[in-house]
Parts: sequence; C-alpha cells; structure tokens
Amino acid sequence: MNSEIIEPTGRLTGQIEVPGDKSISHRVLMLASLADGESTIYGLSKGQDVQHTMEILSSLGAQLNETESDTLLIQGGGLKEPTEKLYVGNSGTSIRLMSGMLAGLPFSATIDGDESIRKRPMDRIIEPLERMGSTISCLESTGMAPFRIDGGGLEGIEYQMKVPSAQVKGCLMFAGLFAKGDTTVIEITPTRAHTEELFEEVGLEVDTTSTSVTVKPGQPKPFIHKVKGDPSQAAFWAVGATILKGSEVCIKNVYIGRERTGFIDVLLRMGADIKLDPVTNDLNVESSELIGTVIEETEIPGLIDEVPILAVAAACAEGETYFKGLGELRVKESNRLETIVSEIGSMGLKAEISGDDLVIQGGKLTGGQVDSHGDHRIAMSCAIAALVSTGPTEISGWDAVATSYPSFIADLDALRK
Ligand code: S3P
Repeated sequence: MNSEIIEPTGRLTGQIEVPGDKSISHRVLMLASLADGESTIYGLSKGQDVQHTMEILSSLGAQLNETESDTLLIQGGGLKEPTEKLYVGNSGTSIRLMSGMLAGLPFSATIDGDESIRKRPMDRIIEPLERMGSTISCLESTGMAPFRIDGGGLEGIEYQMKVPSAQVKGCLMFAGLFAKGDTTVIEITPTRAHTEELFEEVGLEVDTTSTSVTVKPGQPKPFIHKVKGDPSQAAFWAVGATILKGSEVCIKNVYIGRERTGFIDVLLRMGADIKLDPVTNDLNVESSELIGTVIEETEIPGLIDEVPILAVAAACAEGETYFKGLGELRVKESNRLETIVSEIGSMGLKAEISGDDLVIQGGKLTGGQVDSHGDHRIAMSCAIAALVSTGPTEISGWDAVATSYPSFIADLDALRK
C-alpha cells in the first residue's frame, strides 16, 4: 500500500479532460463482445476496474485489440467457456453485469473478486437470476462471491427491484438478451439509464416507461462508440474549483444523462457557479460561497457515487447539510457512510450518522492522516478536502485510486500549476 501527501493549494485553473465514463466503458465492452463482428470504441476508462472487464471478455474469447492509446477494436461473437476463474478485482459493476451475461451463455464459469468484492451483497442479483432459471452456486458464503454460474435456459420474468440499483437492472437486462420471452425490471426510484441507452444504440429492442424497462431477446449489432468523460470524476474538480477561492476550471466533454448529474443540481442549490455548455458538454466552474442544503432520499441514486465529494462541499458550506437515506453507501467499495465520517472526520469534518442519514456542519478542515480503506472515491475526496485544509494530508492506501482514475495526480498538478 502506498501513500500520497497532498499539500493545501491556492486555486485550480485551466482545462481538463476527465477519463472516459467507467459505467459506460464496462457496458460497451460487453455489448461489443456479444456483437457478431468488429466494433470500435474510443476513450474507454483506463482504470483497473475496466481492465478487469477487458481481461474477462478476452478469457471468454472476444478479441480485443488496442490500435492507439485511445482506440480499441473488438471482434465479438462466439463467446466460449473460460478455462480459468474470472477475476473482477474491486469492480462491483463488472461482477454484477457480467453475471447477467454469463447466466445467459450456455456454459459454466466461476467469478470472483478481491477482499472487498467478497464482502459485498450478491444476493440482489443471484435471487432474480435464479428466478429466470439460472443455477448459481456460492462457493464460500451464501449470497457472496466467489460463485459458479451454470448458464443457459433462461426465461424472461417481471422483477421489482428491492433496492434502487443500476447494476441489478443492468444485470437482468443482459440476462434478458438470452431469455425466452420478455424481461421487465421495475424500479422503485429511477437509476442511471446507461444500459437502456446503449441497448437502443446497438439495435436491441427496449421499452422504457418512467418506472420500468422491458428487454426482448436479441444480439447487438457491431457499433462505433465514443465514451464521454466520467461525471463522477468531473465531480472532484467541480467541487475543488467551487471551494478554492479564485478558481476557474473547464471540464471538457462530460457525459450528461439521467440520474448521473444529481451532484450538479445539489451544488447549484448550495450556491455553486457551474455552467453546462449544451453543445460541447463542457462544465465551466468558478469558485463561490456555499450554503447547506437537504438532499432527499429520492435524489440519492442520481448522485450515489458523489456523496463523499459532496460531503467535502458540505464541510466548506455555511450551516448544515443533511443527506437522507444513504443505506446503500454501506455496501460500496468501503462502508462509505462510516469512512466519510472517520476519514474526512480526521481532517476536521463535523459529521454525524443518524440511522441511514448523514448530517454535516460546515467548518474548517485541518488536514491530517487518513486511510482510503481500499476505496478510490474516499481517497480522492480526501485529496480534494486536503487542498482547502490548513495543513498537509497524508492519504494511505492511495493505490485504490488506480481502480478508476490512474491520472488523478497528473490532472491535479495540471490544474494547480
Ligand atoms: C453503477 C451503479 C451504481 C454505482 C456504481 C456504478 C453502474 O451501483 O454506485 O459505481 O455502472 O451501474 P449500484 O447499482 O449498486 O447502486
């Protein structure tokens, strides 16, 4: 485990291109591997999570060929039984989406991940996949990875999700491509719609209503896709530029879509100065004073990955910020409800957990010694908090950042030069 020391800084200025969207990267890779022919993808996320998805698809027989640093050609179709265990590392999106696809393919595969993945709930996908007719055997603990999937023979179902989760919805939609009949997923609260958007883009039949999505069996057509910048990574610079006086940052070509940019709405409500250019999808951010707000439970799926960095914004705001219904944060890469309070807390954040709610009082951040708990978003949120702190911050377990944003420090150095 390595550590990184971040010194306070004056302001952030300049232009930045954040990495390609991680959620979209996983999905386009899987769809290209299922398509019969050659697809071209530009601008994939270069994080380890997406690397794991690429390695798994290679083990299943897809041919991935990186022609330039930004361009990947994939020859898909004819996926086959892997000879080795499939390993997702730290990636919850890989294990959950891939399980849907494997449940549909007519062979057996065993899937596993790192220590954190082995603690995250998989019953939320195992239960509906079994209802579709899949056989899934957990090899160590019930409802957890590692597990073996004996694929094939699926029937479409209608399934009402128990938690708002785009990973569960996406898993069942991938399984639905192989099922007999239609598969309908009903959402209690809307979640990110990447699977729906991309299925339509590659010629698959999808019917969406405000509360449900129905998929018909089918095979994607080969396609060309340019992955836009990841809004979850843009959020770090949007908050950094907002809280550091005199900052002016342009974040280029960010993906803007349903249930992905809730953090912008919250920051605007708090008084941030963020302007979206609707033609280029650039986000132009200038520093401003923030005031506390209330974030309702129904808003959470639209900013689920941005709560740690919004906690940093709340720390710099006047008054109280109240986040409602953060239960799902307990089962992310770390127990984020706890790690926000313990880690940003050791930098001076005044935060309290009340049931599944989080209450933050604005105040001064001091810096200090923190730990990522193997969680990239906790590490990067602490790094942004460090910039406005009165002293330096040492972040141990910094290597976790490589799961999604290996060039974070290079981008930070470019903006604070
Ligand atoms: C993701 C969905 C969210 C999010 C994760 C990526 C996706 O997870 O936290 O980082 O790509 O579908 P849940 O579906 O578990 O909320």
